[in-house]
Parts: sequence; structure tokens; C-alpha cells
Amino acid sequence: MCEHCGCRQIEPIAELMDEHFHLLELGEEIQRQLAGGNRYAAWTVLGQFADELSHHVDREERGVFQALKDQGDFAEAVVDLEGEHADFDEAISDLGLDQADLEAKVADLLGHLTLHIDKENLGIFPIATVTLGSSGWDTVATAHHSHDHKHTHEHHHASTSA
Ligand SMILES: [Fe+2]
Ligand SMILES: [Fe+2]
Repeated sequence: MCEHCGCRQIEPIAELMDEHFHLLELGEEIQRQLAGGNRYAAWTVLGQFADELSHHVDREERGVFQALKDQGDFAEAVVDLEGEHADFDEAISDLGLDQADLEAKVADLLGHLTLHIDKENLGIFPIATVTLGSSGWDTVATAHHSHDHKHTHEHHHASTSA
């Protein structure tokens, strides 16, 4: 990934890049299970993959993508990437456990996801890193933080010092 562009120094971008890495790991696990003939196991991992992808996409679209659109920067590239998000959603809904070509469909989906991730890691994220102003970063922080609150309950606001 891009260790040299400074993206990893920006916490919310580093988070999204870590999520990319994890999604690709889950994708490899799905393909490993399918290759071993374990369709049910693959299906379970696929469910986790779908959940994590949708969480990730939501953060991108409400955060970095929205911030770039608000600034009027690279809006066309952002719209293309959002279109790919919708394509992934549709491709995942079209998968079925009993399909003869399930392996091929999954390989196709993961191939497209890899290309999509490269466009983000090597394209739109470095662009965001150098172009977003402070209100853009506020949008990103709000998108990431509000989502974390909505989906986890791990924020302990300490009151143990009795
Ligand atoms: Fe994306
Ligand atoms: Fe992404």
C-alpha cells in the first residue's frame, strides 16, 4: 500500500486502509474455503465480509467522499467509486449457495474489489490527504465517529474513580 504518500499519518485514512486490508483477507478466506469444497464455511465468511464491506462503504461515502464532493474536488472520480460500491452490493445479493458458478462469481467480485481498493489507496485517499480542508476533516471525523457509536458500545466514559 502507499506508505510513502503520507496517508497513513492521517488516522481516519489509515483506518479505511486497514479495513481494505481486512476485507481482502476475508476475501482470501472465502476463496480458500470454496477451493476446499467447503461452501457452507465460505458462506459464513461471506456474510461477515458483506457486513464489513457495507460498514466500510458507509464510512467512505459519508466521510471522505462527502467531504470531497462538498469541496467540489474530484467529484467525478468519487461518483465512479460510489457506482462501484452499488455494483458490489448488487453482485453480493446475486450470489447463491447452490449456484454452479459461485466460485467464478466470487473471483470476479474480489477481482473488482481489489481494483477498486487500489483506486482508493493510490488515488482518492492521497488526493483527500492533500486537498481536504478542516471542514472536510470534520465531515470525515463525524462520519467515522457517529458510525462507531451506532454500531458498538465500547465507549466507556469512565466513572470508576469513586
Ligand atoms: Fe470504496
Ligand atoms: Fe474502500
